[in-house]
Amino acid sequence: MISLRRRSLSRVFFIAVCAFIVRWLFFSSSPTSAAGYASHQIKEHNFIERATRPDKSLNVQRHQFLQARMGRDERDELMGAQIRNGVEDYWERFQMPYMVSKDTSSMDAQHVVGAIDQLLSLNGWVAALCPTLTRPFGQNKHEHAYDDLVREDHLYYIAIVIHSADHFLVDQLAVIVQMAKRLGTNNLFVSMLDYDSTDSTETLTDLCEAVLTLLGVPFRIRRVPGMTEDPSAAYYPLEEAHMRNLALEPLRELLQKRGIRFHRVIWLKGFTCPNDILETIKVSFVNEAAMVCGMDWAEHNGFFIFSDRWRTRDIDGDQFRQSKSSSKAEAVPPRDRLGASRYAKHLPFQVFCCESGTHVVDPEQSYYKGIEYRAGSDYHNLSRAEMVPMRDPDAPCLDSSQAWFCRDLWVRSARDAMDEVDKVNNHGAGRLARRAAVDVAAREPEVVAAREPADPNAKAPEAAEGQAQAAAGRRKPAGPGVDADANAGSDYDAMPEEEGAEPPAELDPFIDPVHLSMPNSVFRPARILVNPRCPTTYAGVSHTQLALDLFGTGEDDAFHAGVGKYVLEDWEGAPESFVCQEQRQTGGRKATKTQRRLGFSIHDELQRE
Ligand SMILES: *[C@@H]1O[C@H](CO)[C@@H](O)[C@H](O)[C@H]1NC(C)=O
Repeated sequence: MISLRRRSLSRVFFIAVCAFIVRWLFFSSSPTSAAGYASHQIKEHNFIERATRPDKSLNVQRHQFLQARMGRDERDELMGAQIRNGVEDYWERFQMPYMVSKDTSSMDAQHVVGAIDQLLSLNGWVAALCPTLTRPFGQNKHEHAYDDLVREDHLYYIAIVIHSADHFLVDQLAVIVQMAKRLGTNNLFVSMLDYDSTDSTETLTDLCEAVLTLLGVPFRIRRVPGMTEDPSAAYYPLEEAHMRNLALEPLRELLQKRGIRFHRVIWLKGFTCPNDILETIKVSFVNEAAMVCGMDWAEHNGFFIFSDRWRTRDIDGDQFRQSKSSSKAEAVPPRDRLGASRYAKHLPFQVFCCESGTHVVDPEQSYYKGIEYRAGSDYHNLSRAEMVPMRDPDAPCLDSSQAWFCRDLWVRSARDAMDEVDKVNNHGAGRLARRAAVDVAAREPEVVAAREPADPNAKAPEAAEGQAQAAAGRRKPAGPGVDADANAGSDYDAMPEEEGAEPPAELDPFIDPVHLSMPNSVFRPARILVNPRCPTTYAGVSHTQLALDLFGTGEDDAFHAGVGKYVLEDWEGAPESFVCQEQRQTGGRKATKTQRRLGFSIHDELQRE
């Protein structure tokens, strides 16, 4: 343990020195003025470009603004002068004398690239284990499994929010380098947002900047101050929304100013193996999914348990169980029958909402349609001497910004389907008339048809029964007593506090879900999936054991070995109610949460718009 710690300490030191050298060599003359800031903005095509063929590539050699650093902390650092002296000394004694001409100076760049390669060759870091971990369907055995994905030449946007979590960053950088190698350096854009970190994130983002600059990967690395001066006066869901929208700013700029559209946005959280991310991207494409999430496992008293129960809801709107990775079939994380049975077969399953670690979002179905991250606004600000706001029992849920995002996806998907039907019918019936229409199902027969089980072999009889029930718009009445843990407020997120743990929630009296005048099942569903083969983990997790717990020998049913392992045939409608776990007051991310079950009517949401 001690030697391990010492080793990682010396590594961190090595990185710090590397980062310093690179920063000193590359950025010592970087402009810090307002003019410098402006040069970091994405530039619009000029007149000639617009008249001819606008360049829509992510070519960093041609467009310097594609590699930008914003909000760097320029203050003098502790020991900064000493390190600078050392670097200068090293440079003058060991580097300069050997650079006799232009040819030999390029040796130096190669030297640096070599050092970075060595640093990130996934040797010694968590990622080094990735190719050795068991995965179902022999994922790791097929070297060319993702060649088709690579050939597509799609553009990917990688977004990372760092909130004092420097321990992930080097591994995440290693993953990005791997992805860049596979997908092409000009097919990625990396957006890193450092939200008011107080640890060594600053230094590590220097390293990221250096590595991405050398590899020619476009990026924007940005540091922003906290929303409130005192972190405990912040409202966490609002912070979440703020951070995420900022991390997406280049995505919008690249579309508006240069007409560049990305095919998928990848939110890196915690640590995820590169192959698992590639597979999740594949799951996303073949299902035309709006969002595909991994599963987040954290170590807890020697076990691995499902984490991030705050933001994940199964297709019945229930919270996931806080299951162990080794849990038996009846106690797996998703509670709904179909989800549980697919989880047990390691197949992607539909959910109402998820985030749980690394997740892949289709911007065409979300951000490019104007959906942004948001949060409730009628929370109680404890820093103000004001009364606790009175809230209706069915007031909007004050939950995570991801939960808002999911509901927005459901409503948007329903609205888009109706708009499409309108376009086809185009009998002059405007949107207002359409909204007044009662029987949407009659106009959208394909939605109902899609509910028929397409592959009866793939489903257990009881699952089919659950399906039929769902189709009838009747969901099981989830109340206390049905499943003691389901709504009991026993929630406790497995992540250690410093990594974003959510404290246990208190339970509000159970509120009987409303009975909807128009069932959600008649609307086109949002395609939100969880890919259980994409585990996200944290430092200190024994990945080999986790992989064994989750996937056993990794040998799976040949029936699903083909495309079947990716595709979901039947999509259910949204649940009519969900477990709303809310943060009603300020107090940072650790503020108390309360819980209630809340109705969700897509019809009502559409009326409200
Ligand atoms: C809460 O109130 C304090 C004091 O007025 C203010 O500084 C802070 O920004 C408020 N927090 C939120 C999240 O609105």
